[in-house]
Amino acid sequence: MPTTIRRLTPADAAAHRALMLEAYERHPDAFTSSTSERARLPVSWWAERLPPGEDADSVVIGAFDEEGGLIGAAGLNVEGRIKSRHKATLFGMYVAPAARSLGLGRQLVDAILATARARAGLRVVQLTVTQGNDAAQGLYERCGFSSFGVEPMAVFVEGRFHGKVHMWCDLRP
Ligand SMILES: CC(C)(COP(=O)(O)OP(=O)(O)OC[C@H]1O[C@@H](n2cnc3c(N)ncnc32)[C@H](O)[C@@H]1OP(=O)(O)O)[C@@H](O)C(=O)NCCC(=O)NCCS
Repeated sequence: MPTTIRRLTPADAAAHRALMLEAYERHPDAFTSSTSERARLPVSWWAERLPPGEDADSVVIGAFDEEGGLIGAAGLNVEGRIKSRHKATLFGMYVAPAARSLGLGRQLVDAILATARARAGLRVVQLTVTQGNDAAQGLYERCGFSSFGVEPMAVFVEGRFHGKVHMWCDLRP
């Protein structure tokens, strides 16, 4: 499946919103955000998470199919405070079911890490993944992330608690 990987701009806000609402709906265990909370927010809220500029605190990379449809995304949020500016968080990782196991997830994580490496002063990327989400955790491990702990009872979804595995990647090889 030929795809284009590029950074999202505010013009992609509606497509990103639709993709992530699908993600929250299909995989309630995998995301801390829930469909009902996020569906209430206007497209302008999503556009604010896609600010332009090289030093933006939030960057989202998207994967597009041949027709220009958004089929995957992953985001990077850089810490703002002086003492933690060397850290960023990978968030909102999702590939639409029809496009899975084709390496798009790998391309998105690699693009996020390349973006992080290009930012002066950034040294660490962190993320959390729900315990038992082996496809996602395995992908992160192959991309260079290591787990450093499990947060017990991190999310409560449909009457069940789930732990979150905390992972990190040192950007300096
Ligand atoms: C996790 C996710 C982003 C991966 O996307 P993808 O495009 O399928 O990823 P890739 O094709 O690059 O890689 C998938 C890899 O996982 C492997 N895999 C698939 N299911 C697996 C499982 N249950 N356990 C271990 N590995 C698995 C595949 O074999 C493939 O490995 P390979 O790269 O060695 O061939 C996608 O499955 C997804 O969107 N899941 C639902 C949302 C989610 O869990 N997001 C992560 C939140 S932290």
